[in-house]
Amino acid sequence: MAIRISRLEPKKAKQTTAAPLIPLNPTPEKLRAAAKGCQACDLWKSGTQTVFGEGTAGARMMLVGEQPGDSEDRVGHPFVGPAGRLLDEALAEAGIKRDEVYVTNVVKHFKWVPAERGKRRIHKKPSYSEIMACRPWLDAEIEAVKPEVVVCLGVTAAQALLGKEFSVTRQRGELVKSSLAPFVTATVHPSSILRAIDQESRHQQKQAFVEDLKKIGRLLRKLPRAA
Ligand code: URA
Repeated sequence: MAIRISRLEPKKAKQTTAAPLIPLNPTPEKLRAAAKGCQACDLWKSGTQTVFGEGTAGARMMLVGEQPGDSEDRVGHPFVGPAGRLLDEALAEAGIKRDEVYVTNVVKHFKWVPAERGKRRIHKKPSYSEIMACRPWLDAEIEAVKPEVVVCLGVTAAQALLGKEFSVTRQRGELVKSSLAPFVTATVHPSSILRAIDQESRHQQKQAFVEDLKKIGRLLRKLPRAA
C-alpha cells in the first residue's frame, strides 16, 4: 500500500495590525501610498479601496471621522458624501477653510452590509479589532501632520482616541491634553445631524456643531503657531 506523505506548509500568520506597513519618517503621501494595499483586517475584501486622509501636512487641525461611507468608498476620498457636504458647510460657517484642515477616519475601509431590499450598502460600525488593526495609520498621520488640535467627529473616533469611557453627549467640546497632540476634543459626527428628526432640530444641531468648530478656530488663533 502506497503511503502518501503530505507536506505541511507552515500556516501564514494572519496580519492583524497595519503596524508593519508604516514607512519610516512618514509623510501623508508616503502613508497614502503604503495604505493602498492594506489587508490588516478583512474590511479590504468588501471595501472598494483604501480611503486615506487628505489635507496639508502642516494643517493645524485634524478632523477624525469613523470610516468612509458609500460615496467615499466609490471615489476614494474622505468626507465627500452627504456628511462631508454638511461638514464643508459647517467649516465655512465657522470661518475655517477645508484646505486648512486635515481630514481622516479611524478606519480606512468602508464596512457595510447589503440592504434587505435593493442594492443599497448599509453602513456598519467597525469592530474593536478592526479599529485596532487600522490604528497605526491614524497614529502615523498624526505624527506626519503634527496638528495642534485633533477633533474627533462622533463616538467611534472619540472613544478610539480618548478612551472608551468618553461620552460625546457629556464631554463634547472639552479640550483634553494628550500625548497625541496638544489638544484633543470631540464633537458630534455630521451624519448624526443628517439623521435629525425634523428640519428645526437639524438646524439647531448644525448650529451647535458650527459653534464647536468656531470655538476650536478661536483656540487656534490664540495658540502660538508652531515653528
Ligand atoms: N463618515 C465618516 O466618518 N467619514 C467619512 O469619510 C464619511 C462619512
